[in-house]
Amino acid sequence: MARVKVLLTGATGYIGGTVLSTLLASQSHRIRDISITALVRRQEQADKLVSSRVTPLIFRGLDDLELLERVASEHEVVIHTASGFHTASAEALIAGLQKRSMDSYYIHTSGTWNLAEASLAELDAQVLELTDNENIIKLEEELETQRPFPQRATDLRVMSAVAGSRVKAYIIMPPDVYGFGTGLFAKTTPQIEDMARDALKHGQAACIRNEDGIVGYVHVADLATLYVVLLDKLLADDAAASVSEGIYFCSAGTHNWKETTERIGKIGFRDSRLVSAMPKAISINEAAERWSGGDVRNLRMGYCSRFSTKPEKAMDLGWRPQKDQGDWLAWIDTSFQAALKKPGEG
Ligand SMILES: NC(=O)c1ccc[n+]([C@@H]2O[C@H](COP(=O)([O-])OP(=O)(O)OC[C@H]3O[C@@H](n4cnc5c(N)ncnc54)[C@H](OP(=O)(O)O)[C@@H]3O)[C@@H](O)[C@H]2O)c1
Repeated sequence: MARVKVLLTGATGYIGGTVLSTLLASQSHRIRDISITALVRRQEQADKLVSSRVTPLIFRGLDDLELLERVASEHEVVIHTASGFHTASAEALIAGLQKRSMDSYYIHTSGTWNLAEASLAELDAQVLELTDNENIIKLEEELETQRPFPQRATDLRVMSAVAGSRVKAYIIMPPDVYGFGTGLFAKTTPQIEDMARDALKHGQAACIRNEDGIVGYVHVADLATLYVVLLDKLLADDAAASVSEGIYFCSAGTHNWKETTERIGKIGFRDSRLVSAMPKAISINEAAERWSGGDVRNLRMGYCSRFSTKPEKAMDLGWRPQKDQGDWLAWIDTSFQAALKKPGEG
């Protein structure tokens, strides 16, 4: 039987690189039988990625829509990890799959920030508990009419683009991702390290006054495993029909930003790098200046929202995250040490 051809974007990135290495390490006979085309922007990336199962293809970038559509039409599966925000590339990849005369699968990467504004509330408000068996697309539609957000708009466009066609779409929606990636290029995502670096710069960690944000986390290895578990299910004979389309949550737990910054404070004070173990309470505006380039809306979405995303659909597929709260807490320590080594950045 001909090998199933999978097109992957973002193979040099943190998530995409880890997805690629996890695909290549999979022992599933279905996954071992796929061939992978990895779209990359530079020759040196292609040179590092090429192998018997990976064919790198150099392209100009996600705005090269003609190429994306053409290349996607030559594959049965597209895994798009390069950006959750780039609507046109998602549309072009889906349009390419739609040129095929058979069922095909589009796996998209999004993020739970899309839902954050549903939970922004007063400090004593309940944590909003969402599961992916609810109609999350409808929630995204409602939020989008109130205030547009590109990553959310892309999800909605993905779902409307595939409607009524033979392309099935699966949107993986990670919360805060942490841990060392296993790809050949980007190994980390900067969020916690940047926060530690900011504490070092000011001599004290900081938390947002009168806010108590709670959000999910997932280790990048667990996240990548979900892509592989999903793909394996889609490739199994007769199983694809039972895999529901749409949003897939993948949170392995939640963390509280106040406690996260307290941990940074404790580590820094213990190591005589910070003047106090207690974070300094700062205003939302100051936090936005320090942590989100002055963007108060993004700051509130990332650090003030209070919600959890229970991954019921992923669990139904058999996905089980291996990393737990201890790994998350250890990551804060690791990130602090990394910030100490590169104090000038950020
Ligand atoms: N990281 C997180 O914590 C997190 C959390 C939730 C959701 N997400 C979602 O996941 C997506 C990917 O995140 P990530 O952390 O893996 O990002 P990343 O490490 O920055 O990787 C991005 C990848 O996409 C490629 N890429 C970016 N822009 C491109 C363009 N215009 N044309 C062609 N290739 C392009 C990069 O290629 P080069 O190597 O050539 O630059 C790289 O391979 C985000 O956009 C977001 O929607 C991420």
